[in-house]
Amino acid sequence: MIIQPRTRGFICLTSHPEGSAQNIKNQIEYVKSKGTIANGPKKVLVIGASTGFGIASRITAAFGSGAATIGVFFEKPAAEGKPGTAGWYNSAAFEKEAQAAGLYAKSINGDAFSDEVKKETIELIKKDLGQVDLIVYSLASPRRTNPRNGVSYASVLKPIDQPFTDKTVDFHTGVVSDISIQPVENKDDIENTVAVMGGEDWKFWIEDLKAAGVLAEGVKTVAYSYIGPQLTYPIYRNGTIGRAKDHLEATVPVLNNLLKDLNGVSYVSVNKALVTQSSSAIPVVPLYISLLYKVMKEKGIHEGTIEQMQRLFAERLYTGEAIATDEKGRIRVDDLEMREDVQEAVAELWGQVSTENLSQISDIQGYRDEFFNLFGFNFDGIDYEADTNEVVNVPSIEK
Ligand code: NAI
Repeated sequence: MIIQPRTRGFICLTSHPEGSAQNIKNQIEYVKSKGTIANGPKKVLVIGASTGFGIASRITAAFGSGAATIGVFFEKPAAEGKPGTAGWYNSAAFEKEAQAAGLYAKSINGDAFSDEVKKETIELIKKDLGQVDLIVYSLASPRRTNPRNGVSYASVLKPIDQPFTDKTVDFHTGVVSDISIQPVENKDDIENTVAVMGGEDWKFWIEDLKAAGVLAEGVKTVAYSYIGPQLTYPIYRNGTIGRAKDHLEATVPVLNNLLKDLNGVSYVSVNKALVTQSSSAIPVVPLYISLLYKVMKEKGIHEGTIEQMQRLFAERLYTGEAIATDEKGRIRVDDLEMREDVQEAVAELWGQVSTENLSQISDIQGYRDEFFNLFGFNFDGIDYEADTNEVVNVPSIEK
């Protein structure tokens, strides 16, 4: 079928299989161009492995360090006349490239929050790898059912104490407007968001993996967080999602305790703000990212998810030396985003930005391009007018 982008708000409803494959190939080429990661992981489980930071982590482990990888994700498979989701096509392309390079790669498509998927993953590790030496936890989801009490939680993106008004952009139309977001009405909104995006499920995973004996001596686990600038604090770091990130970060010592007898260690890595399916859903953030990209590209320090994850592995997690962290024990790969000169320049542009000057003073075009790239669109060399086979399978997943 001919697959063109179809968008609804910040969601793209269609994805292109060949474009997604190109996206994966480009990321693999980047990682290969940076050379082998000495002391890198060898047997890796990535939870949330199909898009954004998760697929970039999987690619870095496999093609930077020759790792066998198991990826867990929640994606819609492709069917005749109905394209799959981007994460599905990404994973199909990843497995094919990994196989061609002689690397073990298998995937599980299902709800990572459930006990069933945890069990299935453990069985697969036991059968094929024995143990894993790195677990990347990269889930981003609007809801979660806790398997231990059956309660379902929905997360919200809201400020906590007072209403928040600031600029935002509709990145499709380029209209900059003010947005006011009311604060949470009760504590439930905070607790629910923490239940979805906090560290509880990460802990459940590590507990179950440990109890099953599938964690290797010296195992590492890493989950991803965000801090960002003051201007997004009310909606991000001081908002409901920030409380969830506080909880995720507070889970680190709990996991360290759990992993002590294996000489294992857990980390949160604070990553840079980037265009992903999740970040495009947060008000204000796309406008901030458009300005940030402009500044960082001009300074020659822009990075995408793959550059971030390659740097996390090669220059933080697997240097062979003690891992550098901030005063709260977090790994920082948002260091370039948070540089004073970068933040000053963004703050100045933030004061000026309007619908009229958006295309001159921001990288809104770069934002749009990357947004469509996420779904396999906008890649050179792909004929988007041509018929393409939408029924692409992930080799390790039975139909
Ligand atoms: P994303 O939306 O690109 O990826 C989410 C992944 O989670 C996908 O692989 C998806 O299939 C999987 N997933 C969602 N629900 C699932 C479920 N129930 N079961 C199994 N898999 C499920 O998101 P992104 O942006 O890569 O986020 C990953 C982490 O990075 C999050 O913790 C996010 O907060 C963090 N982060 C994101 C930043 C950004 O600017 N995008 C910045 C810093 C941190």
